[in-house]
Amino acid sequence: MFNKKMVTDLDVKGKKVLVRVDFNVPIADGKVGDDSRVRAALPTIRYLLDHGAAVILCSHLGRPKGVDLTFSMRPVAEHLGTLIDAPVAFAEDCIGEPAETAAAALQPGQVLVLENTRFHDGEKKNDPEMAKQMAALADLYVNDAFGSAHRAHASTAGVADHLPAAAGFLLEKEIKYLGNAIAEPERPFVTILGGAKVSDKIGVIENLLEKSDRILIGGGMANTFFKAQGFEMADSLVEEDVIETAKALLEKAGDELVLPVDVVIADAFAADAADKVMDVGDVPAGWRVLDIGPRTVAAFREVISEAGTVVWNGPMGVFEFDKFAKGTFAVAKAVAESGATSIIGGGDSISAINKSGLDDRITHISTGGGASLEMLEGKVLPGLAALDDA
Ligand code: 3PG
Repeated sequence: MFNKKMVTDLDVKGKKVLVRVDFNVPIADGKVGDDSRVRAALPTIRYLLDHGAAVILCSHLGRPKGVDLTFSMRPVAEHLGTLIDAPVAFAEDCIGEPAETAAAALQPGQVLVLENTRFHDGEKKNDPEMAKQMAALADLYVNDAFGSAHRAHASTAGVADHLPAAAGFLLEKEIKYLGNAIAEPERPFVTILGGAKVSDKIGVIENLLEKSDRILIGGGMANTFFKAQGFEMADSLVEEDVIETAKALLEKAGDELVLPVDVVIADAFAADAADKVMDVGDVPAGWRVLDIGPRTVAAFREVISEAGTVVWNGPMGVFEFDKFAKGTFAVAKAVAESGATSIIGGGDSISAINKSGLDDRITHISTGGGASLEMLEGKVLPGLAALDDA
């Protein structure tokens, strides 16, 4: 099912290889925070270095408006230098003189990290001129940026028009795990969706209704379904403009969509708010839903324990507040202990699984948030489509 040319199909010896990675990582005080995305790209980088290539890495970081050095790739380049046994240089632009000079000087076995691709407007517009200039830095192109593969940008898609273009190991791994989970799941196939917004996940629910056996819904998005069922939600987060869509999904889904039966409500959106558990129903004035309740946790756990495949994206409550994190951590534990093929995507679910120390019991933790959701929606990822066929 993975039908793209791989990095292993390229003759890279003595060549300059432009590699699109997703190094969109958190930076605080000029240092990289969670570096999982950087580590996840190391197999491709090491393979290229071991096979005599000079490696030019490019990525976006954040959503800068023009050049803004708080979004510089420099700290990521420095961090990468501590993870690999090769010299890592940095170019202060991803095109133009700084990039061209640094790329021309680069030798096999060396790495060059280019400055943030989003410092140029042309990146998000998939400007052909920008893509051409980036391509001119190298002989070959490898895309290993699964997290950005849903973006049709100059560095993720356009550049592939100008160079032999292959997939890296991370991109392949992600597509295989997510693709297989959807196409040939071991059943029962259980999807757990959370997070604040139904609107982000309508496409996912629609696509998975055809494929999943059960879709468990938690987090803020459940509120919109409750409202669609006619309950008063008081100060809970509700997306008024998708209530009709939520109604239609509930009707279409029948038993397949499983909503919480109880919730934890709070008298303020705060870590130290007063809290109580209530069965699903009208929420008292001045209160809001911030987590799933214990009976829901038990019901979800039972469904998850019987699953053959579990895909989880999105927290069950406001888990940044300890008091309202129980549902999310209980689901993390249930997924880890299920024995099912388990796939987790989305920053918050990943952070919950990492914090609970159960990450080594998960089959695959995706480096893509938006990209993994678009795969679950059944969409074609432009970053993948742009690559040469095998
Ligand atoms: C992500 O973090 O999901 C990717 O790096 C894509 O970032 P973007 O949503 O800013 O395009």
